Amino acid sequence: MHVLWKDKIVERDTVKIDIEDRAYQYGDGLYEAMRVYNSKMYMFDEHFDRLDRCAKEIRLDLPFTRAELKANLEKLIAVESIKEGEVYLQVSRGVKSPRDHHLPLPGTVEPVLTANVITIERDVEAQEKGHTSCIVQDQRWLHCNIKSLSLLGNVLSLNEAVEKGYDDALLVRDGYFTEASASNLWFVIDGKLRTHEDGNLVLPGITKIKLREIAKSLGLEVVEKAVPVTMLDQVEECFASNSVHEVMPIVEIDGKPVRDGKRGPITKLLQDKYIEATL
Ligand SMILES: Cc1ncc(COP(=O)(O)O)c(C=O)c1O
Repeated sequence: MHVLWKDKIVERDTVKIDIEDRAYQYGDGLYEAMRVYNSKMYMFDEHFDRLDRCAKEIRLDLPFTRAELKANLEKLIAVESIKEGEVYLQVSRGVKSPRDHHLPLPGTVEPVLTANVITIERDVEAQEKGHTSCIVQDQRWLHCNIKSLSLLGNVLSLNEAVEKGYDDALLVRDGYFTEASASNLWFVIDGKLRTHEDGNLVLPGITKIKLREIAKSLGLEVVEKAVPVTMLDQVEECFASNSVHEVMPIVEIDGKPVRDGKRGPITKLLQDKYIEATL
């Protein structure tokens, strides 16, 4: 298997990561996960824009330009002969030795890019059947808009849900739904789409950008305002969105079915239109 390491495509087992790499020691770095459809990266520019913004927020100098990253990832997709898949890339701040919390001075560390690409296929069955979920208190930090490598909050939330027998965790902070463990969260209430507004409490999803466009083209109203848990009995449909799972119906919350416990019609319509947009 080939991977991208810094600016080279190499065999995976030749990659060397230093034990004092800050991603390894502090989770000090960023990542992106994007879909490949028909051997092409989907919404690469939007993913790059987010990475670039996050890099500025954590004061990390990306060691590549947009064009260089795109060209190298395209090469990797070609070398690995991927048709339908997922690109995962991460950028560590680099190696600082000896270990020290303080950010290294600019120019004194070399950020480290790694990326791999795998084949994945759309999980048609799950997209029809939907996911069950439970509410978990959102205990993450207050910079959820940064796609940080430090995902322990998300990991432990999902684990709590899975240990209780659910597929996903719906995160709630101060009585309001924020997002799911690895996706943005949407509700249909009174025929309108509702999702948490962008800001520091959620990741501004790339799938969310596309769904806004699709909803607009369908004449569906999107209200970007957090939904309080107290509105749960008014929820007609619920779904989660991310690049990998696309539009995933949430059919059960805390043991209670959402509506009739089946994928709702607006969710199905958005799923179909989203898939159409990837062709
Ligand atoms: C916490 C969280 N929110 C939202 C998303 C959706 O992001 P995107 O649509 O860019 O994949 C993700 C994706 O991994 C995520 O981890």
